[in-house]
Amino acid sequence: MPRRVVLDCDTGSDDAIAIMLAAARPELELLAVTAVWGNHAVRHTADNSRRTLDLIGRPDVPVHAGLGGPIDPPPAAEPAKASPERATLPLPAATTAVDPQHAIEWLVQAAREATDRFTLVATGSLSNVAAAIRADPEVVRAVDELVVMGGVMERGGALPDVETNIGNDPEAAERVLAAGFERVVLMPLDTTYRATVSAEQCGELQGGGGPAAAIAADLIEQRIERYRTLPALAGRTAAPVHDALTVAYLVDPTLVTLHPAVVTVHTGHSPTRGRTDITLEPAGAVHLALDPDALRFFDLLRASLESL
Ligand code: RIB
Ligand code: CA
Repeated sequence: MPRRVVLDCDTGSDDAIAIMLAAARPELELLAVTAVWGNHAVRHTADNSRRTLDLIGRPDVPVHAGLGGPIDPPPAAEPAKASPERATLPLPAATTAVDPQHAIEWLVQAAREATDRFTLVATGSLSNVAAAIRADPEVVRAVDELVVMGGVMERGGALPDVETNIGNDPEAAERVLAAGFERVVLMPLDTTYRATVSAEQCGELQGGGGPAAAIAADLIEQRIERYRTLPALAGRTAAPVHDALTVAYLVDPTLVTLHPAVVTVHTGHSPTRGRTDITLEPAGAVHLALDPDALRFFDLLRASLESL
């Protein structure tokens, strides 16, 4: 039986590749994509999710648009985004409409009606997930595993102090981590930056992989261009594809090693708002994904994209 998965994301190029990966794998049944704000305004993340699924021939997977800003307090206006010109992914226009049901309503209904539990993968701001469990705490029990791309453990090195998904809505992240999910896996920047995809590997994807692989390669090449000047990459022609690694963990958990950890989120008006304090402790409630096998991740990604 394939594992039932809901992907809550802020599509975004790496989320788009995560959607392709989730849709490609026979081990996973992608029940729905719920879009949240983050990389872009939610109308764009929903449209980008729809474009991605239509492109790969999956109009059957519904996309529900969710929250356009943080939960606590909700902003008076949509948060401004730095690069509105990049808000729409360079993919053909969607041929299927975004489902009119709001993502929170859908998540709550899916949880209430589920006879089998599902896995929730969150690769955007945690606003939708926090709002869904606030609307109905039963959502927590309907989820067998919550997998979150978010947070950063390293301090004072080359990685950013604040990871975007947690930093966008720290109150939501705090609420989600404390909600009592049976199993929580966190994929931090420390790990995604160690499983980068290189320009050379993009060439391999373009070389013989079919249309989805070629489009993913284009998206990764654009990421490489944008990330090139970041200290964490030190001029390397490679980029992390954070959200795809997060879905890849579900397909093959041996791509990383899991370490029990205690995770605390800095909230409120603190100047360190959005930071995560992460300590490895045997009694920790979060499973922190570390030590990725970058080559095996790429092999899995390539084989999956080529199958589309
Ligand atoms: O920090 C990386 C995360 O922020 C990724 O999920 C990316 O898509 C953005 O949402
Ligand atoms: Ca994302």
